[in-house]
Amino acid sequence: MDSFSAVVRTASHAQHMEAETSTFMGDLLGGRLGVAAYTRYTEQLWFVYEALEAGAERLSADPVAGPFIRPELFRLPALERDLAHLRGPGWRAELSALPATRAYAARVRECAERWPAGYVAHHYTRYLGDLSGGQIIRDRAERTWGFARKGDGVRFYVFDRIANPAAFKRSYRELLDDVRADDLERQRIVAECKRAFALNTAVLGALGEEFPIGA
Ligand code: HEM
Repeated sequence: MDSFSAVVRTASHAQHMEAETSTFMGDLLGGRLGVAAYTRYTEQLWFVYEALEAGAERLSADPVAGPFIRPELFRLPALERDLAHLRGPGWRAELSALPATRAYAARVRECAERWPAGYVAHHYTRYLGDLSGGQIIRDRAERTWGFARKGDGVRFYVFDRIANPAAFKRSYRELLDDVRADDLERQRIVAECKRAFALNTAVLGALGEEFPIGA
């Protein structure tokens, strides 16, 4: 029988392809968008990580979500430095969430407050993705817009407290395999992962509309 981490991965595979090949991601990675689009995207991430990390401290004592809360993953401070670089010192006043981002962050917050296993689904979908494909995005962003390697603008993608991302991902998958949830609850986690991917795809879709190529 497949491990739970493999089940989750397989279940979200098709949606991962969809996110990866979205028009916005394709244009961003293809170097066809300006830094304004990258900035807007980074700004949307701020709302998502604010929701993920605002509830993290309280959840660290939770039997289900607690083992996943690892300070070396926290992205909010890095995002804030990136935004200060991209937008300048007044970045916070200009921050605005797209409706799709608001819906995504609201769902994360709801899980953080009421359903720790659902929070795990959101945690997995973001952080494991950032540790993986995020590195490709960082590389392209550095080349396309000239950010210093692993410096301001791309710090979100730099996990400087994780020396070996491959080993970290392996141990994360073990945590997922051992998550304190019965079969039914595990099925619900899988469903929430799919929802998390759909929420991401909706944000990317909205960004694609805001930044059509050639406009
Ligand atoms: C252009 C965008 C993207 C690229 C190039 C990309 C690429 C990748 C790559 C190369 C992996 C590594 C798989 C492995 O470890 O063997 C990965 C894993 C992953 N990605 Fe993405 N990805 C992108 C977007 C996304 C998005 C938008 C999400 C959802 C928020 C996401 C979530 C994940 C997750 C959860 C994993 C871990 C899968 C697992 O091993 O369990 N990715 N991605």
